[in-house]
Amino acid sequence: MTTVHNNRRVIGSEHIEQARQRGRIVFEILPGDIVTSLAAETAQRLGIKLLDGPLEKPSYPRTDGKTALRRGLYRRSAKWVAPVVQHHKNAQRFAKIAIVGAGGVGSNIAHLAANNDIASEIALIDIAPGVAEAIALDLNHCSGITRSGTRVTGSTRLSMLADASVVIVTAGRARSPGMTRSDLIDVNKRVIHSVGDVIKTQAPQAVVIVVTNPLDEMTVEMLRVTEFPRERVLGMAGTLDSSRFRHSLALAANVTPADVEAIALGSHGDEMVPVTSLAKIKGRPVSDFLSDEKIAACVKDAITGGGQVVALKKTGSATIAPAHASIELLDTMRGATSGAVPVSVMLEGEFGLDNVVLGIPAHIGMNGFIAAEPVLLSDHEQAMLADAADEIKRRLALS
Ligand code: 2OP
Repeated sequence: MTTVHNNRRVIGSEHIEQARQRGRIVFEILPGDIVTSLAAETAQRLGIKLLDGPLEKPSYPRTDGKTALRRGLYRRSAKWVAPVVQHHKNAQRFAKIAIVGAGGVGSNIAHLAANNDIASEIALIDIAPGVAEAIALDLNHCSGITRSGTRVTGSTRLSMLADASVVIVTAGRARSPGMTRSDLIDVNKRVIHSVGDVIKTQAPQAVVIVVTNPLDEMTVEMLRVTEFPRERVLGMAGTLDSSRFRHSLALAANVTPADVEAIALGSHGDEMVPVTSLAKIKGRPVSDFLSDEKIAACVKDAITGGGQVVALKKTGSATIAPAHASIELLDTMRGATSGAVPVSVMLEGEFGLDNVVLGIPAHIGMNGFIAAEPVLLSDHEQAMLADAADEIKRRLALS
């Protein structure tokens, strides 16, 4: 406890030492506090910044009990414990997941979903005769080893998505080197409209997860054609972009990705907003580990990550990370993992934005979007989010 002298706190060196033992790197000096010169010297020696308060406290993302406990423990101890992904035993299982498009992303989603036994049935649908059927058979052949109870069916018929609880749409053209995601608007819009028409009539209760690019625009198209409430039309991008951002920060700081907490919001394209102000390495601000230039390079790496894969592959885009990122959404929906995830959703005032689909941190469940997670962005990040919204609206108006 600090000593109180004539109603003013006297901060001595012992208080600074106690703060250090609790893992603090800053000490808040309130108006009227008396700081002894020994305390100031001790702060300098221990690398603790004395900051004029009261400090504005960021609102921490709400999270599950165990992660919250770890965060609490970290504040008391300088020893960092990386959060582990919690898989809850009482997670729900989907009755039927339909995946439209059995290319690299669709087949990898089916593989991961079947392997993890997260649904009773997976219907895999592809326009190319034999492709979905072959992958379905191949996946079912794994079940003697994996013992998964998921039955996978394959077909060219969109009617196979009937009564699915979740429909994941990956169908559409992928980028070739040199193309941006928005170069695909016109061709993929037609795909979204024909798939959306069938979803609307045959799976009217489904939650739709759009993966087809350009992601934000195609999610808007899916909302238009299905006329589903915004809660049931989500876009998968933020979980993928956040994973790429965490990977990049981990590589730059030479730590394991489990030590990095970071999210990317905004558009799935050049207007992506990797959130550096909230990014943490071992529970501390990234700026404690990386220079501004290195952080800027990680931001760029996250934004261009998908394009880097396209450039290497020459035909087609990334498949494995997008599939994992889709599974992260499914796992969050069914309660296998908890906390907020970045997901693209039609905004109705969240983050001060309206009438545009954009990636925000959100809570999702078996019926889709529940609520946005309030996070405190920097003014610059908030402005970037608004710019992303303007740019998406502009592109949609042109298409
Ligand atoms: C990506 O970023 C395919 O858009 C996807 O890799």
